[in-house]
Amino acid sequence: MFKRLTLMAALLLPCGAVLAEEGGMELMHAGTDINNMQSLQRGARNFMNYCSGCHSLQYLRYNRMGDDLKIPIAQLQADLMFTSEKPFDMVNSAMPADAEQWFGKRPPDLSLAARAKGVDYLYSFLHGFYADKTRPWGVNNLYLSNASMPHVLQRLQGLQKPVFKHEAGEGGEPKMVLTGVEMMSRGSMSPEEYDHFVRDIVNFLDYAAEPVKATRQSMGVFVILFLLVFFAFAYLLKKEYWKDVH
Ligand code: HEC
Repeated sequence: MFKRLTLMAALLLPCGAVLAEEGGMELMHAGTDINNMQSLQRGARNFMNYCSGCHSLQYLRYNRMGDDLKIPIAQLQADLMFTSEKPFDMVNSAMPADAEQWFGKRPPDLSLAARAKGVDYLYSFLHGFYADKTRPWGVNNLYLSNASMPHVLQRLQGLQKPVFKHEAGEGGEPKMVLTGVEMMSRGSMSPEEYDHFVRDIVNFLDYAAEPVKATRQSMGVFVILFLLVFFAFAYLLKKEYWKDVH
């Protein structure tokens, strides 16, 4: 038994390691909580202010978001709807059709980003920008090499610089390997404040990717509880029926 368990663990471990190393760097832990309503509300505000200029959420309507996140329509219109006027519109971006020429790549729709890439990836990506003079916007990203997105949160986070390690290459010639980043110039937020800020955005993107997620999870708990109670009654009933037979 023990032997079989160790064999299974040995088979599963490399899979975990490979997943974590996708993109070359180990991912950070996002620590988001889809049931934290205040975090979701702050995340919606941060997303609308810092991301919706370029990214849309094409499967999410403003009024649905208002209902789910308990934001009154008037406040939604005043504070969050920059790219649209009607509450039943989808969350569009302000990007014109030729955005591709500006960035080399069209900023992708982020509706399903949290499902496609995972919250840890999004959290890491938003921590991963570092100074790189060879890139058009002067920054590159640890988790998406040669990313064509500018570091739109630089004023808040500050600017990081890359840290390299020298290694012998295949032919023996030295080569530089990127191992991480360190802070070069600080922004207006402390590292902890920036972590919270990004965590809220990622939490909001997790909600946007599946607006019924929180309901689905609480419904799941309810269903299991119901089944347990039902099982107890069914068992008692069975005992009652078979009492006379035995
Ligand atoms: C000035 C325009 C602009 C703004 C503002 C912007 N982005 Fe982007 N973003 C881009 C572009 C361009 C890409 C495509 C990058 C690529 O694939 O090289 C991108 C890609 C992404 C990706 C996909 C990364 C991947 O692995 O493919 C994510 C996630 C993302 N952005 C999140 C955000 C978030 C969150 C914000 C708000 C904090 C934001 N972006 C603000 C332009 C922008």
